[in-house]
This record gives sequence, C-alpha cells and structure tokens, in this order.
Amino acid sequence: MNNAAIYACSHRRGGNTDQAADLLARGVREAGGEADIIYIRNHEIIPCLACGFCDKSVDRRGRERCILGKKDEAWKLFGPFFTAPTVLFASPIYFYHLPSMFKTLIDRSQQFWTAKRTGEKWVADLPRRTAHAVLVAGRPKGEKLFDGAQVTLKYFVHNFNLTLADPLVFRGMDEHNDLAEQTDFETQIVELGRQAWKTAS
Ligand SMILES: Cc1cc2nc3c(=O)[nH]c(=O)nc-3n(C[C@H](O)[C@H](O)[C@H](O)COP(=O)(O)O)c2cc1C
Repeated sequence: MNNAAIYACSHRRGGNTDQAADLLARGVREAGGEADIIYIRNHEIIPCLACGFCDKSVDRRGRERCILGKKDEAWKLFGPFFTAPTVLFASPIYFYHLPSMFKTLIDRSQQFWTAKRTGEKWVADLPRRTAHAVLVAGRPKGEKLFDGAQVTLKYFVHNFNLTLADPLVFRGMDEHNDLAEQTDFETQIVELGRQAWKTAS
C-alpha cells in the first residue's frame, strides 16, 4: 500500500503545525502504515495565471494540462493526491484562511477542477478516500476562525475524490511551542493519524 501524505503548510519551520505533522505521522505508523511529510514552504509554486489553458486543452493530461506544469514543482506536490490512501493537512490559520503558499498550490489545482467538472475519467475514476486536517490558530476566540480554511480544503480535495472529515482545531496557539504545552494535544493528534490510516486501509 502507498504511504499516507501529510502536508505541512506553515511558512514557519518547527512551529506548532510542523509538530502536528510529526504527530500525525507517528499515528499513521502506530496503525501500521507509513507517511510522507511534505513541507509546502520548501517547494517553488508559481501562482495560477488564470489563462484558461486547462479549460481549452481537454486532450491533455496531468502536467501537460497546465501552461506552468513543467515550470515549477506544483505537479510533484499533487502526485500523492492520486496515489495516497489518505491525505492529511497540518496548517496554521493566516488571516482567517490557509497560508498563501498552500493557497497558491490550491489555485493551481484548477486543472483538476476543470477535468472533474467535465467528468474526465482520469480524475473521475480516482478511488474515493478521506482527507483530514489539523488547523491551528493564534486567536483564542472567533466563531468563524476556521471556516474559510475548512470550506477551501473541502472543495480542493473534492477534485481528487477525497472527502474532508471534520478538522481537529486548536485555538490560542501563537508562539512556536504553544501547542506542545497543551496537555492532551499529543494524544488527540496521534489518534487522528492512527484513525486516518485505520479507516483508509
Ligand atoms: C501572516 C499570519 C497571519 C495570521 N493570521 C491569523 C489569524 O487570522 N487568526 C489567528 O487566530 N491567528 C493568525 N495567525 C497566527 C497563527 O495562526 C499561529 O501563530 C499559529 O500557531 C502558527 O502556526 P505554526 O507555528 O505552525 O507556524 C497568523 C500568523 C501569521 C504569520
């Protein structure tokens, strides 16, 4: 079986969500799987040009479907969405949403949205799977703190036949190590990784 894919989405190295990504991987391993952690900040991703090339190029597949497909690493980052039994995200909230590098990658998935909308087999026939997320925010309050990130993630993963489960959220975690100082954070995140693997396999 392929490895679970864990996307670590913070621009800050070693912070709360990097630690969450490690714990998710630990959970996957404890459940008998393997996980790859992908640090989005380490990859070059060019913003979508809204050029409409993917709309017009129905005869093209994958990397060839995007005018930027051979110019950066976006295609490589999309690979696990096709093959991983489950996909997990560990992301901070930036301005009530996902961090800009991750959002840039999401915009580049427009080619998959186009292919899914028109029922192209190479995306329509992907296996149905579940995606999971740990979202971490600095503010202790805010009813809609996670809403923007959650809706975007839901529709992003839908293009790959993934359904987003209710995310695990943490509020009031701002400093580098705030999450690590919570008593039950470790158990909750490891358990999410474990369950993600168990239900995928
Ligand atoms: C550019 C930027 C924007 C942020 N915007 C928000 C926000 O809108 N709401 C919030 O609660 N926290 C916000 N934060 C705080 C982060 O969510 C918080 O520090 C989080 O723990 C960072 O995760 P990390 O340690 O994995 O980088 C923001 C942080 C940055 C750097």
